Amino acid sequence: MADKNIIAVVGATGAQGGGVVRAILNDPSGGFAARAITRDVHSDKAKALAKLGAEVVAADVDDEESLQRAFKGAYGVYCVTFFWAHFSPEKEIAEASSMARAAKAAGVRHAIWSTFEDTRTWVPLSDNRMPTLMGRYKVAHFDAKAEANDVFRDLGVPTTFLLTSFYWENLIYFGLGPKKGPDGKLALTYPMGDKKLPGIASEDIGKCAYGIFKKGREFIGKTVGVAGEHLTGAQMANALTRALGQDVRYNNVSPDVYRSFGFPGAEDLGNMFQIKRDFESAYCGARSLEVSRSLNPSLQTFEQWLAQNKNRIPLE
Ligand SMILES: NC(=O)c1ccc[n+]([C@@H]2O[C@H](COP(=O)([O-])OP(=O)(O)OC[C@H]3O[C@@H](n4cnc5c(N)ncnc54)[C@H](OP(=O)(O)O)[C@@H]3O)[C@@H](O)[C@H]2O)c1
Repeated sequence: MADKNIIAVVGATGAQGGGVVRAILNDPSGGFAARAITRDVHSDKAKALAKLGAEVVAADVDDEESLQRAFKGAYGVYCVTFFWAHFSPEKEIAEASSMARAAKAAGVRHAIWSTFEDTRTWVPLSDNRMPTLMGRYKVAHFDAKAEANDVFRDLGVPTTFLLTSFYWENLIYFGLGPKKGPDGKLALTYPMGDKKLPGIASEDIGKCAYGIFKKGREFIGKTVGVAGEHLTGAQMANALTRALGQDVRYNNVSPDVYRSFGFPGAEDLGNMFQIKRDFESAYCGARSLEVSRSLNPSLQTFEQWLAQNKNRIPLE
């Protein structure tokens, strides 16, 4: 451990951070050690990471001093915020700012900040094709992360800005999988028209991030997007049909209809899908499959992910 570069990982018991920790631990000769950050070092997930060989430390992104302690002595940090835990863009900005300041104080040599584009550069607040949310956002969970980029930059933290993609795990955990319609048939409902949605196995985000750390200074100051595949709704439905052995059709709805679904975050997600649909070329272009594969040679396709995960997708 002493001769290894420590990567302190926020969200280590979750999807992105967990992937980073496991990628580091699966490469014992890679020269890196994993420090897993959690609010509860006694949880089953935290204990499982310790068992795999991670150093597990306690910190809360809402407590900057705890982050300073957790980042101390680290070569690198993986920074992520948790919009869906609180639905507050302001909280995300405050948490990202705390992480940036803690990274600066610790003198880390490489931070990866899991961020997104500022969608207001594509659709300004004055553009009425989609509603403005909370007074100052189009896609709150994107725009707030993008605003926080400046905090890392202004503090001079050596940072890679990582643009992630739609997790295919959303089909399992986030209510975004195929659902039975009134006709009893399964349908995948996204307001994407015939445009491509960049998607990824969430574990692959961590593997790509590890690939970025391994490249040394190459990606510092740069923005890198990662995705496993760019697929239309129809292509996803076809892959689901093959994997599940039952018909899944793609149900294209308008963003307005999607925003009206009423579940928490429906407006934010409706705007998000509309951005991905209307700016397909820029959005997919920012998430090169070749770059992703060069960072993570075991990058999964949707079909490969389905082969492993199809039985975990709830079909009711
Ligand atoms: N769903 C998608 O398709 C998608 C795609 C790209 C990006 N994203 C973004 O991903 C982010 C979430 O990342 P994720 O999916 O990796 O999260 P996740 O799987 O929900 O994991 C979150 C982990 O972070 C920890 N955590 C939560 N609140 C914390 C706090 N206050 N301080 C310290 N740790 C805390 C929790 O661990 P403990 O309980 O152990 O502390 C939890 O295990 C969101 O901001 C979202 O916008 C989502």
